[in-house]
Amino acid sequence: MTLSTELIFPGGLPDSKAYKLEAETLNKRIIGASCTPNDPAEKLYNEWQHIPSIHSNNFEDAFVKTILEHNVSQIYCPHLLLYKAIEKIILSNDLSVRFRNPPPGELETKKINTLYKSAIYFHKIASNMAISHQERLPKTEEIAGLIFYTRAIPGMTSEEKLAALASIFPVLPKGDIIEIGAYRGKSSYFLSWAARRYNIGKVLVVDPWDAIVAQQNDSPDVLKDPNQELVEDVSSFWESAHQGFLAALSPFIGHINYLRKPSQDAARIYSSNNEIQSSTFGTTKYCGKISLIHIDGNHDYNMVKKDCDSWLKFMTPGGWIIFDDYIWLHGDGPTRAGDEYLRDNKDNIELSFCFEKSLFIQLKQRKR
Ligand SMILES: C[S@@+](CC[C@H](N)C(=O)[O-])C[C@H]1O[C@@H](n2cnc3c(N)ncnc32)[C@H](O)[C@@H]1O
Repeated sequence: MTLSTELIFPGGLPDSKAYKLEAETLNKRIIGASCTPNDPAEKLYNEWQHIPSIHSNNFEDAFVKTILEHNVSQIYCPHLLLYKAIEKIILSNDLSVRFRNPPPGELETKKINTLYKSAIYFHKIASNMAISHQERLPKTEEIAGLIFYTRAIPGMTSEEKLAALASIFPVLPKGDIIEIGAYRGKSSYFLSWAARRYNIGKVLVVDPWDAIVAQQNDSPDVLKDPNQELVEDVSSFWESAHQGFLAALSPFIGHINYLRKPSQDAARIYSSNNEIQSSTFGTTKYCGKISLIHIDGNHDYNMVKKDCDSWLKFMTPGGWIIFDDYIWLHGDGPTRAGDEYLRDNKDNIELSFCFEKSLFIQLKQRKR
């Protein structure tokens, strides 16, 4: 079978490099190209073509020759000017080659328009949930920025849930923000952004990033993955999750730290230390009282119960507890643990509701 050939031109733009990664997994023959002499991107490609500058008289001839000689069927071109020049050459030479991507200018405009639409939707959800303090919600452009960055982080937390969380932050008491279960840092990014935005306190993220601790024994086999078939190399998968987390959260140095431990061990460290250190985030001081906790670690009932027993004693009055996956397809750990917490602490609960799949609980200002 002959492989279809794609030209990535110019090969060194960030979008081109990202596209190349994707195209390689689809078993295509890829040729990189550039008008820049000695382009450093050349070393990234197995095949490379230097094409004269778009302003030179022989640009068109050289481009057509490359297409015909290498039997190129598709072109990926994220450069606006080049795209337009190539579009004309394809037409005037009646080439059968097609673009792999839409015109870059239109795509960029569409992306920003879509981002703002999502931000308006996000703001609407948050406004409906924050009747008493709507004016303190973040502005649409701040939300657009937040969505822009959180979308770049793989993870499980939906934008609807982030909007619900955003509605709480303007009225949170001061204190530490704890997250149990970060994975690659999607929700940690939001919590760090919001904690800094509203000057609530420092964020502490707890995750062992370890397949054995993350194993959920109460769930069906497809989730338990007893033969470790879900990913090719399980240890490099979790290392990359941890490294992705560090990279994603690095803008918040000074506002966040983490413990690479199971939740119970981390709680013991938190209870006896007001400072947590790591090489990425340096030293972070915590006040020892929790303003908001997001429980999103191992969802087995006994593990969620341990999260509650280890951490909820540090809650500050008026603080919020969020049980992720209170409604869950793969088991009932968060439901049982959440319901038990509601039952055993009913005198201290100001408000509780289920939004999307999470249980949100606000504690009373004064403890009974
Ligand atoms: C569902 S993911 C978290 C998703 C994340 N909050 C997001 O927004 O994408 C669950 C995470 O919990 C972590 N985890 C599993 N067992 C844990 C435990 N005992 N203590 C803390 N974290 C745990 C896993 O390593 C995994 O990264």
